[in-house]
Amino acid sequence: MTFTDAAEAPSGRTSMIKLHTAEDYEGMRKAGRLAAECLDMLCAHMQPGVLTEDLDRMAREFMLDNGSTPACLYYRGYPKTLCISANHVVCHGIPGEKVLKDGDIVNIDVTLILDGWHGDTSRMFAIGNVKRRARRLIDITYEALQRGIAVVRPGAHLGDIGHAIQSYAENERCAVVRDFCGHGLGRVFHDAPNVLHYGQPGTGVELKEGMFFTIEPMLNLGKPAVKILSDGWTAVTRDRSLSAQFEHSIGITANGAEVFTASPAGLHNPTQPDAI
Ligand code: MF3
Ligand code: CO
Ligand code: CO
Repeated sequence: MTFTDAAEAPSGRTSMIKLHTAEDYEGMRKAGRLAAECLDMLCAHMQPGVLTEDLDRMAREFMLDNGSTPACLYYRGYPKTLCISANHVVCHGIPGEKVLKDGDIVNIDVTLILDGWHGDTSRMFAIGNVKRRARRLIDITYEALQRGIAVVRPGAHLGDIGHAIQSYAENERCAVVRDFCGHGLGRVFHDAPNVLHYGQPGTGVELKEGMFFTIEPMLNLGKPAVKILSDGWTAVTRDRSLSAQFEHSIGITANGAEVFTASPAGLHNPTQPDAI
């Protein structure tokens, strides 16, 4: 299939939550690992002066060289391989002429398809010297994702994930973005269920072994409200406050979660190089 065929094919999304086999986990492990390796590769280039469309090209070449295809390119008309979202951009920033500068905090979101399986992951990068409150936002967002993952196990509920993230974030005086959520994924990019990053314990769908989904909280230093710019994609905070996001693709195991997109180089949060 060409990228254009892929863009026009039915998405395969259904309202049913798919339960996957051991073989499917192997497919997700490979796709997730490659997506994480793509971010590891980009890490060295996250320096002041880098052009965002150069990062996009490097990612696309990396994906194609490794037998995978970019999932975002032409997805619902999206024009690029990566989403690159700096400072007050919440998500879906489009790579282009923009140059990253000292003090920026930047999310790069990578999604690729390997042997039909989607690997979807994003991380924050600090460009040069970043202000303390920006670094703090990055660290809180990273911890919020970890706390969301930590409550995942068969018998827990989707609301437990949202609650773990929201209660931690708000206690740290950060706001959880409501307009975007995590999602089921596998052979389909955006599938059921919606994984909200806020909620009440014990509510929502019960988690079962075999489910695959992303958790991808977006936290703002100001208010939670976002707006979409006239390009139809770029989401920014309405109050122009800083925003941060981390994302992992996970699978539910017999007693917890398997993170498919852990960084093989241990670079998941570049501000804390020793973390997962
Ligand atoms: N990777 C994003 C997510 O986490 C989706 C980007 S869709 C695009 O779900 F079209 F904007 F690329
Ligand atoms: Co996602
Ligand atoms: Co993503």
